Amino acid sequence: MRFDSPAGQNPIDQMKVVGRPHDRIDGPGKTTGTAPYAYERHDVVANQAYGHILGAGIAKGRIRSMDLRAARAASGVIAILTHENAGRLDKGRMNVARLLGGPEVEHYHQAIALVVAESFEQARAASQLIRVEYDRAAGQFDLHAARRAGVPPAQEDKRVGDFDRGFAEAAVRLDETYATPDESHAMMEPHATIAAWQGDRLTVWLSNQMIAWTAGDLAKTLRIPKENVRLISPFIGGGFGAKLFLRADTLLAVLGARLAGRPVKVALQRPLIANNTTHRAATIQRIRLGATRDGRLTAIGHESWSGNLEGGDPEDAVQQTTLLYAAAHRLTGTRLARLDLPEGNAMRAPGETPGLMALEIAMDEMAEKLGLDPVQFRILNDTQTDPGNAQRRFSQRQLVECLRVGAERFGWNRRQARPGQQRDGRWMVGMGMSVGFRNNLLMKSAARVRLDGRGVVTIESDMTDIGTGSYTIMAQTAAEMMGVGMDRVTVRLGDSSLPVSAGSGGQWGANNATAGVYAACVKLREAVARRAGLDPAEAVFADGMVRAGNTSRPLAELAGAEGLVGEDAIEYGDIAERVQQSTFAGHFVEVGVDMATAETRVRRMLAVCAAGRILNPKSARSQVIGAMTMGVGGALMEELAVDTRHGFFVNHDLAGYEVPVHADIPHQDVVFLDEVDPTSSPMKAKGVGELGLCGVGAAVANAIYNATGVRVRDYPITLDKLL
Ligand code: MOS
Repeated sequence: MRFDSPAGQNPIDQMKVVGRPHDRIDGPGKTTGTAPYAYERHDVVANQAYGHILGAGIAKGRIRSMDLRAARAASGVIAILTHENAGRLDKGRMNVARLLGGPEVEHYHQAIALVVAESFEQARAASQLIRVEYDRAAGQFDLHAARRAGVPPAQEDKRVGDFDRGFAEAAVRLDETYATPDESHAMMEPHATIAAWQGDRLTVWLSNQMIAWTAGDLAKTLRIPKENVRLISPFIGGGFGAKLFLRADTLLAVLGARLAGRPVKVALQRPLIANNTTHRAATIQRIRLGATRDGRLTAIGHESWSGNLEGGDPEDAVQQTTLLYAAAHRLTGTRLARLDLPEGNAMRAPGETPGLMALEIAMDEMAEKLGLDPVQFRILNDTQTDPGNAQRRFSQRQLVECLRVGAERFGWNRRQARPGQQRDGRWMVGMGMSVGFRNNLLMKSAARVRLDGRGVVTIESDMTDIGTGSYTIMAQTAAEMMGVGMDRVTVRLGDSSLPVSAGSGGQWGANNATAGVYAACVKLREAVARRAGLDPAEAVFADGMVRAGNTSRPLAELAGAEGLVGEDAIEYGDIAERVQQSTFAGHFVEVGVDMATAETRVRRMLAVCAAGRILNPKSARSQVIGAMTMGVGGALMEELAVDTRHGFFVNHDLAGYEVPVHADIPHQDVVFLDEVDPTSSPMKAKGVGELGLCGVGAAVANAIYNATGVRVRDYPITLDKLL
């Protein structure tokens, strides 16, 4: 089904099932431990051996020698994989560094060996007996030093109007620099794989967000046909972008299984994940704002510096700045330093998360210079069109409503404009706010729906559920379309043998994957109507029946023994080029800062979101409160500390990499504004999972400033920066 003009009325608009707060259908499996994760699939293939990965002990250089003798002789060892016996490998399209290093080492903890043994403990013990000699090379690990030395643009700067003149002539100016650290996804389930060969065919159970990308990259890396590879990933214990790509657990399990001649399972050891996989790259951001005395922005400049390995991309922290506020004169640009740290890549709302952490502090600072309320200042500078192209409107942009509703609900009028004025015992109390912004991306997505003789509808797709609720909203879509109850729908996901979906990333999963189910259901409705001898255009599906005129037939009876099938994909024309589709939020935070210790406690949080039709307010709320929690982590705790001498992240486990726990999170409130966006898909929905994070860090930072009068521009805002 091709979608290239705004959707008219369709069966989803009934909202009998869609739009309801249905419990997660995978919930009981998750909470009773019966939803199996990749590493737990003891049942799927016999004779599984265990792999343990050895990571490089240098950040850059060459392996001079590897002495495997003691490891080979250790008890239980079956095989040891290194670059010398791995065979010829290509590099996946999505991978920056090779997943099996050697003799060249490209980053710290790059995998250089896999020990395969009868037990995990034997594999681990043997891996510690491998003796590696390195020729270490000098590397660049310090973003701040690289910036001082000069860093070229990653791509040409975007300019609208004449920024230099506009900024120079502005009556009120702000020019500040902000920093965000390297961050790790810290998802609960580590990357894990079981790989089994049957001749030249390969079956892989893994934990992965984007099945088709990863199947393609695995086949490419192994130089085998994609048809020979089957990936299975029905349950995923968190992704956040860490599992968008083929990673070392999968490739090494596959190579280890080939070498050992039996199935091999590998979980990336937690202390390897930070340096072996991808992370959110640190940024330094210079923001310049110029405004008239009455608070109209005239110039917006945003430049961001980040680093990556050769071939890696910049963290695009300026992207939202091209679209968020009106101003005639604009400059945005990214600068990319070559660093020899592990690969920087997507982590939840890549770009916007660090970008808004800086921009939305700058907006708070500018509002103060202008003597304006921060909410009012943002409302004054709203735009309904792309500021770089007045012809391009936003399909929906309820940012002002988000801010008005949020201010009202949060009691923003009780905020003291002057910082450091409000006390509660030993706590200095303050309120802060920010804007959240994230684009809505359209991606082709396919599904198959089967109707059987019991009247059960089964959805099949390679879509993934990374804890987000994909199972549930896809089932709701089919239930609505086919006129059956949720108990009549089953969902099979995460298998590369099923139709290729949009996958889970960039908050595009919900709208696109359900639109794919919609398209498949349109086909199935036609098949059902035809079999009933009804005109598909007239047929009404409700209560397990199809009706038209005086005819009414049960779906189960029509399906018969052989059943009926509908399969299709939603495909998009150029609608996203014609209208700008984005999601918006107002974030409000109250903090207390201890007068003696400068410890910050978040006291209240509110997010007001405008993100198209909300397919399931319960799972959407869960996404947003999880995202707000991640925002608190980004503001107050999260930081991969770089050892700039040796080039690695020092705190590479869950003990040293701090994230919020329940005790850190207070009451969280989430409001979804009524919105239906007919340009997004037949679902008229948008993503919301990443929107919930965008801007939260700055709202916390602004609340700390309001409480204390101390402006911190360097995240995380740990107590040492407040004293
Ligand atoms: Mo998201 S960072 O695209 O999983």
